Amino acid sequence: MFEKMSPAPPDAILGLTEEFKADHNPDKVNLGVGVYKDESGKTPVLECVKTAERILLDEDQSKTYLPIPGSPEYGAIVQSLLVGGEHPIVTGKRARTAHTPGGTGAIRVGGDFIAEQFPGATIWVSNPTWANHKGVFAAAGLSVKVYSYYDAETRGLDFAAMQRDLQAVPAGDIVLLHLCCHNPTGVDPSPEEWKSIARIAAEKGWIPFVDFAYQGFGSGLETDAEPLRILLEEVEEMFVASSFSKNFGLYKERVGAFTLVASTSAAADAAFSHVKKTIRVLYSNPPAHGGMIVSTVLSSDHLTAIWHKELDDMRDRINGVRRSLVDALRNRGADFDFSFIARQKGMFSFSGLNNSHVDFLRDTKSIYIVKGGRINVAGITPTNIDYVCDAIAEALKKYPM
Ligand code: LMR
Repeated sequence: MFEKMSPAPPDAILGLTEEFKADHNPDKVNLGVGVYKDESGKTPVLECVKTAERILLDEDQSKTYLPIPGSPEYGAIVQSLLVGGEHPIVTGKRARTAHTPGGTGAIRVGGDFIAEQFPGATIWVSNPTWANHKGVFAAAGLSVKVYSYYDAETRGLDFAAMQRDLQAVPAGDIVLLHLCCHNPTGVDPSPEEWKSIARIAAEKGWIPFVDFAYQGFGSGLETDAEPLRILLEEVEEMFVASSFSKNFGLYKERVGAFTLVASTSAAADAAFSHVKKTIRVLYSNPPAHGGMIVSTVLSSDHLTAIWHKELDDMRDRINGVRRSLVDALRNRGADFDFSFIARQKGMFSFSGLNNSHVDFLRDTKSIYIVKGGRINVAGITPTNIDYVCDAIAEALKKYPM
């Protein structure tokens, strides 16, 4: 059965890591996958996480299954981080949360739920979007369309085109919105623009599906969540996929959440019963360890304070690298203005490099960048910044913009 199969193409992001690992060049640099690295190039286990794991090792009494949507404590913690414990969707019990294997798991749960409950619905994703969005939603059986987002001329948001496209989305369709630190561009709407997006959703009757994978990496935990509160002022129904991969550094533990918001508590219960059925046939119930780490940290004031500091440090380092990168490229006389890199938010920068530069950097310098020019800013360290910037300057000479 397998002899006639030709190999599938490597994954656009994780495939790069495989190539990177196989590369023997001692100077190689991985600016592909969105994983935070510290100044020494390591992806550390946060101190708050280590402490929580020690506590769990001593105190955890059983490895029995979690409920299908995970533990209720975890769900409450997720909702409180998203909107605060006093928000009407929480006090009015209009939100239900399931612990999922990572943010990708949350997106797939949402995709399957939508495909089962609203056959024929289309999901609209930004142009461009995370390389895996289309694949996950298509695998769930949804039809996927794009709305305008990025303006390659200004290196910013094409808000007029975005508004125009969102106004044309039919009622009952779903619109995927990156809440902060847009992946891959690092370009986010302003609070005023979010208000318009929320009004369009309410007027046109489409449902937001918020992807919130980088809370705390943009401007801070509260500020990054502000667009969610803005949307909830206008719309009553929503899906949220959130993740602790980045802000807790829990990548391989696969700790995410799918939250469904309905107009009433009874509607939330009914809809969530179907989400549970969706989960049961996908993976039955979630892996416990990562969620227990998050719950342990966030139920301790002391560990929460350590987490906040560690998260602030990660964000500050990334913003510092953005500025260093702009300066280092300018100092090399790069014939192109990279100042927009310092204005973008989160782990990624849509660098402006095109696929000829990306191929040149990979093939001749062992610098790995996602096709389209997305670079993981956190992969740049004091040790490799000169090598990377020299290589980019050389690529720009060979293939002028
Ligand atoms: C990324 O965009 O690099 C991350 O979200 C990791 C992934 O799974 O693609």
